[in-house]
Amino acid sequence: MLNFIRAVLLPALLLTSFGGVAAETVAIIGTGDMGDSLGPKIAEAGYEIVYGSRDPARESVQALVAATAGKASATTPREAAQAADIVLLAVPWPPMEEVAQGLGNLDGKIVIDVSFAFEQGADGYPVMSVETSSAEMIQGWNPGAHVIKWSLPTAHYIDFPEKLGARPSNLIAGDDRQSKEKVAAIAHAIGQDPFDSGPLRMSRAIEAQVLLFMVPLYQRRTAHWENVTVRSSYWSCFWGDDWSEPVADADALAEFPEHGQPLEDCSAYTDGE
Ligand SMILES: NC(=O)c1ccc[n+]([C@@H]2O[C@H](COP(=O)([O-])OP(=O)(O)OC[C@H]3O[C@@H](n4cnc5c(N)ncnc54)[C@H](OP(=O)(O)O)[C@@H]3O)[C@@H](O)[C@H]2O)c1
Repeated sequence: MLNFIRAVLLPALLLTSFGGVAAETVAIIGTGDMGDSLGPKIAEAGYEIVYGSRDPARESVQALVAATAGKASATTPREAAQAADIVLLAVPWPPMEEVAQGLGNLDGKIVIDVSFAFEQGADGYPVMSVETSSAEMIQGWNPGAHVIKWSLPTAHYIDFPEKLGARPSNLIAGDDRQSKEKVAAIAHAIGQDPFDSGPLRMSRAIEAQVLLFMVPLYQRRTAHWENVTVRSSYWSCFWGDDWSEPVADADALAEFPEHGQPLEDCSAYTDGE
C-alpha cells in the first residue's frame, strides 16, 4: 500500500496541486519573422518551446531563446522536432521540402504548416507554385504525421493581435480532429480566433488567398491590406439550414474555443425591418 501511495497517488497529487499536466513541447523550426513572433507568444501561453535552427548558436537565436518564457532552448531542426509533440514549420516555401523531409520520423506528431507556396508569374502577378497545397505536400512527405494548416496574419498581428480591432480569425484545416483542436487551443491562447476550415484539402482555398494579399505589394502600392477574417453574426440571422446537405462530419465537429459570442439579436442586422 505504501508503495502504491509513493508510486501513484503522490505524483498524481503533486501534479494537480502544481498546475496540472506537464507543458507540451512545441518545436518552432525557423527563427525568422514568424518564428520569433510565435515562439515567445506560445511560450507565454504555457507551452515549452524548442527552436530548430540551422545555426542554434547564432547570437540572434540565443537572444530569441532568452526572450522566450519557460524552459526554452535551441538546437538543430531535427533534434527540435524529435523533442517535441507539436512541430511548427516556420520556414519559407522554397526550402520546405528539404526541411520537412529532414526532421526524422514525425509519425504521430502534429505538424503545423503556416507557409504559402507561391511565386511571381510571367506577368508579375503571383501564381501558386504547387497544384495542391503546401500542407498536402508536407503530409505526403510525412504520411504518419497529423498535418494541420494554420493560416496566420502578418507577424506584427501575432505580436499585437488587438491592433486589428477584433481577434483575427485564423483558418485551420486538417484531417485529424484532435490535432485540429490542439492547434486551435494554441491559436486561442495567443489572442487569435481559430476558425475550423474543414479537412486538409481546404488548404488549397486557404493558400490561394495569399495571391490576393500579394497583389498590392507586386503592384508597388503603398497601402497594405491584411488578409484576415473576423467573426460576425449568426448564420441563422440570414439563412436557414435547409439549403444544402450538411458536411460529412457535421455530428462530430472539432470543438474550438469560444472567446465571446456574436450578437444573438438578429434585429441588429435587419435595418429595423
Ligand atoms: N512573416 C509573416 O508575416 C508571415 C505571415 C504568414 C505566414 N508566414 C509564413 O511563415 C513562414 C516563415 O516566414 P518568415 O517571414 O518567418 O520567413 P523568414 O523571416 O525568412 O525566416 C525563415 C526562417 O526559416 C529558416 N530557414 C531554414 N532553412 C532556410 C533556408 N534554406 N533559407 C532561408 N531560411 C531558412 C531560417 O531560420 P534559421 O536561420 O534559424 O534556420 C529563417 O530565419 C513562411 O512559410 C511564410 O509564408 C509568414
